[in-house]
Amino acid sequence: VRTIGVLTSGGDAPGMNAAIRAVTRAGIYHGFKVIGIRKGYEGLLHGDMEELTLRSVGDIIQRGGTILQTARSAEFSTEEGVKRGLSMAQVFGIDALVVIGGDGSFRGARDLARLGMKVIGIPGTIDNDIACTDYTIGYDTAMNTVLDAIDKIRDTAYSHERCSVMEVMGRHAGWIAINCGIAGGAEAVIIPEQHFDIDKDIILPIIEGRNRGKKNYLVIVAEGIGGAAEIARYIEEKTDIITRETILGHIQRGGSPTMTDRVMASRMGVYAVELLKAGKYNRIVASQGGKMVDYDIEEALSMEKTIDEELIKIGKILAL
Ligand code: F6P
Repeated sequence: VRTIGVLTSGGDAPGMNAAIRAVTRAGIYHGFKVIGIRKGYEGLLHGDMEELTLRSVGDIIQRGGTILQTARSAEFSTEEGVKRGLSMAQVFGIDALVVIGGDGSFRGARDLARLGMKVIGIPGTIDNDIACTDYTIGYDTAMNTVLDAIDKIRDTAYSHERCSVMEVMGRHAGWIAINCGIAGGAEAVIIPEQHFDIDKDIILPIIEGRNRGKKNYLVIVAEGIGGAAEIARYIEEKTDIITRETILGHIQRGGSPTMTDRVMASRMGVYAVELLKAGKYNRIVASQGGKMVDYDIEEALSMEKTIDEELIKIGKILAL
């Protein structure tokens, strides 16, 4: 491998810039040429790319979003699109591609690998829903953004003695919801991984809390469940407690990355380049128990992630 291409794909996540910087600087350190591809696989298809230098990735570690921009490419999900992507990579002399993104982006990388491209995946998504790794870039910043919103909403909920229903991102996963429920002191957290009964799991804890003297109530709903407005109306009807819903939305994807996201992105980026240096490719970089490891891309994509039962238990015990 002499020339590495790097792209960000799918939903952006805070810390992606730190990963781009790490891939670029570690790449140059190890003697590779590094090319930045704009707008994910769309940019690969259209040859929208330029060489990255030590300086071009300066002053970006603290910035949210991705300087390379990102996209969800419909064309690249076709066989023809993948072939076109590969041939454009060849035009630019790219012989290995580092993809920073989530499962959908890794499927694109796997398709390229099947045609002979050498690929490395770096997990970048706020959802923390990639099975082979216990951490994905952006997850910590997103959770801190949610927590900041929870604290603010709690102030007004207390003043008015209200209930707040907050819907948070995570696609089909409840990782952001479950952690923010614990950190924000929610009465109930509703996630896709767990069956729930609205009366038993939401209404009862709210009424019991009121009987013990609670002055405000917080229900976190993962977007994989959705329906925050309907849940809020149901709570109001059943309990007579005025209830407001907040769908936090894309604010969760922005902002300056936290310390954890910057360090994890830096470690993952350097590790990705070291894999290529060692002649290892078609791997996904992962964090397991704080250590950097890697998985074969086909294996990584066949793995399934289960939610941490301990977090669910803690949330329930402490909600009282
Ligand atoms: O994967 C990150 C994420 O923010 C999910 O939490 C959410 O379901 C999705 O992306 C939203 O995608 P879009 O920005 O395309 O609306």
